[in-house]
Amino acid sequence: MAMLFENQHKPVLLAEAIKYLSPIRGVFVDATIGLGGHAEAILDRSENVELVGIDQDKQAIEIAKQRLKRFGDRVKIIHANFADIKLVLNRSGVEKVDGILADLGVSSLQLDDKERGFSFRFDAKLDMRMNPDAQTRTAADLLKTLSEEEIADIILRYGEEKFARQIAKKIVMYREAGKHIETTLELAKLVEEVIGGRRREKIHPATRTFQALRIAVNRELEVLEKFIFDAIDVLKNGGRFVVISFHSLEDRLVKTSFLRLSGKCMCPKNFPECVCGAKRLIEILTRKPVRPSEAEKKENPRSRSAKLRACLKRCEE
Ligand SMILES: C[S@@+](CC[C@H](N)C(=O)[O-])C[C@H]1O[C@@H](n2cnc3c(N)ncnc32)[C@H](O)[C@@H]1O
Ligand SMILES: [Zn+2]
Repeated sequence: MAMLFENQHKPVLLAEAIKYLSPIRGVFVDATIGLGGHAEAILDRSENVELVGIDQDKQAIEIAKQRLKRFGDRVKIIHANFADIKLVLNRSGVEKVDGILADLGVSSLQLDDKERGFSFRFDAKLDMRMNPDAQTRTAADLLKTLSEEEIADIILRYGEEKFARQIAKKIVMYREAGKHIETTLELAKLVEEVIGGRRREKIHPATRTFQALRIAVNRELEVLEKFIFDAIDVLKNGGRFVVISFHSLEDRLVKTSFLRLSGKCMCPKNFPECVCGAKRLIEILTRKPVRPSEAEKKENPRSRSAKLRACLKRCEE
């Protein structure tokens, strides 16, 4: 088991996350417990810490439970979407918490699972659902049912892909020829045909399209926005919130949500007075996002795009 954890997942920005979370005493939430790397460090930090772990991936839950067994009843692990953090805490009889951590995105377990269709490294059904129990539409379903315009919008918005329109067009042409994109390699090949040698980036031509579909299938940005505001709501005054994100769309959402929660007026500049109801609920602890050191990036390539932002709940009573 130990080998499995070490090889599959090195917790990203671990020391930095612990520093900002400061888990010394009280109840903490790891909203993306994954394989339990960050959670283990939180629980190890102090005996006076209890942890509620959440993940929408059942497989991750099972692994985290095994890994954190030695902490006994100091830890409770629940299969849920973090958008339901209020419900989860309510059902666990917890009212307010001292700190919340979210380490977003997919785990290496999910990426390396040949069956789940997150990666074009393996041929698999184009699925990408993080929680197959709760959601019905897979990535293949989206490509089968959405219009060309809707597909293009997803690839453009969530993948920031320049060739989104051309890719969507090709997908619909494929569909009109009576074929459906059912597998990861079928999609990767099609995107490659569209982009060909036109891009000079190091990443595989299909990377952005895969990211876009994953975000759409799991409604990642809508879910994240609800979670951020609910997380601040369930924090005690003085409680800490730490978010690690892995792509610019997530980071931008965290950044603007933090700004709004810190009381910054978000009204258009030409408004004579503030109508957005800006109210100071937090103090931002990281003016700029915290990035991994060169050493960490070298040791753990997955950390390369990570950005950590942290805040402290501080309401004006
Ligand atoms: C990067 S991994 C977390 C790794 C973990 N910090 C560790 O040290 O092992 C991200 C995890 O978040 C979970 N996840 C992503 N979005 C979620 C959501 N909306 N609700 C609950 N879990 C989510 C994924 O299933 C995945 O297991
Ligand atoms: Zn305003």
